[in-house]
Amino acid sequence: MVAEKQEAVLHIVGKARLQGHVPISGAKNSALALMAGALLSSEGCTIENLPCLMDVQRMEEILVSLGVKVQREAGRIHLDTTCLSSAQAPYELVSQMRASFFIIGPLLSRLGIAQIPLPGGCAIGARPVDLHVKGLQAMGAEVEISHGIVHASCPGGRLQGAKVYLDYPSVGATETIMMAATLAEGETVIQNAAQEPEVVDLANFCRTLGAKIYGAGSKTIVIVGVPQLHGGTYRVIPDRIEAGTYMIAGAITCSDITLGPVIPEHLGALIAKLREIGVQVTIETPTVIHVQGREGKYRGVEVETSPFPGFPTDMQAQLMALLTISEGNSVITETVFENRLQHVAELCRMGANIRTKGNVAIITGVESLSGAPVMATDLRASAALVLAGLAAEGETQLRGLHHLDRGYDRIEEKLRGLGATLYRV
Ligand code: EPZ
Repeated sequence: MVAEKQEAVLHIVGKARLQGHVPISGAKNSALALMAGALLSSEGCTIENLPCLMDVQRMEEILVSLGVKVQREAGRIHLDTTCLSSAQAPYELVSQMRASFFIIGPLLSRLGIAQIPLPGGCAIGARPVDLHVKGLQAMGAEVEISHGIVHASCPGGRLQGAKVYLDYPSVGATETIMMAATLAEGETVIQNAAQEPEVVDLANFCRTLGAKIYGAGSKTIVIVGVPQLHGGTYRVIPDRIEAGTYMIAGAITCSDITLGPVIPEHLGALIAKLREIGVQVTIETPTVIHVQGREGKYRGVEVETSPFPGFPTDMQAQLMALLTISEGNSVITETVFENRLQHVAELCRMGANIRTKGNVAIITGVESLSGAPVMATDLRASAALVLAGLAAEGETQLRGLHHLDRGYDRIEEKLRGLGATLYRV
């Protein structure tokens, strides 16, 4: 009988009372894009404030497979991208992390060719890359998808600047086209571009390397191509989703905590919604947020996820955990991904009262949740279940921890640092 591989289980003791300050790491969704963008540099570059995450590790392995020489110490990585030995990312690495698709733009504009496995869908949706492909084709790339591999090449040897209109303000597609355009011939205009802070961070990183990018953060981004990008050093912005997750940890346990460094403007929609619920949120300093929960004082709200500066889809599951114990009815509408309500079933196992109809969840607040064995289905759902476990009566056992480890840098250590009791068996 083959011994079943024991998967780790996270035990979370409920009715936690948190206090103190939680440090916020560099942003996962910026770090991954910056690491792909490093391929644009002919001299290599250094990225600081990298979070310690499985996904960053995987992106590093993908870069190494392309011939990049990597030197890593703590949160700092030096990427020597002077000579790339391959334009083919291995399937077994790409299939584990969709963000690896971001390398297609840089590879195409650096080498004139790229062969990237089509990133599979994931729990939250089909995750197509048609907008990435359309943008590259508009710039003169020939793209053919066969046997699950995206074969891209630019016949003239160099991409041509183009005017690209995005049917949806896709973060990834905006980043792919922006990176490809930095080395293209002439000017590229991206209309209906994503405005997420991570897009701005990527643009600032590329500008550090000599790229000419204007308007990042607005709906229209203009990129003037240059022959090559030089080296540089760049520091990743703080992770607004990690910060938002800890803000809700403070609120759901009715605790008094501070968190930082953060950039408060990146959290506008969440701060407004938490205040509407009845959580006391103050900007203590330009980089520190203070959250004071208030026992039994939370009211249900309506929220609809949408592209930045709207309410972030990556905070939807975490907010739902808080709304399960907020008085009255709440309505959450998930408009960004087609299947991002899987945490509902698990929260109901913990005593929450939630009904879903398509992409809408109706939550009726209950007095308290009760600890139970639950299963994480995706990254942010796993975070929501940790938050629910901190607030529930009794102990919660969370499985599917690989989701959590992908996106949260030392979450157990940080929560224990705030006084929570949780341990992995
Ligand atoms: C980025 O994913 C983030 N990931 C996601 O974070 C985040 O939820 C998402 O942006 C939205 O903010 C990284 O940055 C690594 P999109 P991305 O392209 O770029 C559709 C997390 O939890 N679409 O803005 O893949 C797509 O199906 C992760 O940290 C197309 O139709 O998101 C979705 O419905 C989850 N065609 C919508 O756009 C395309 O070519 C938004 O996707 C591309 C996207």
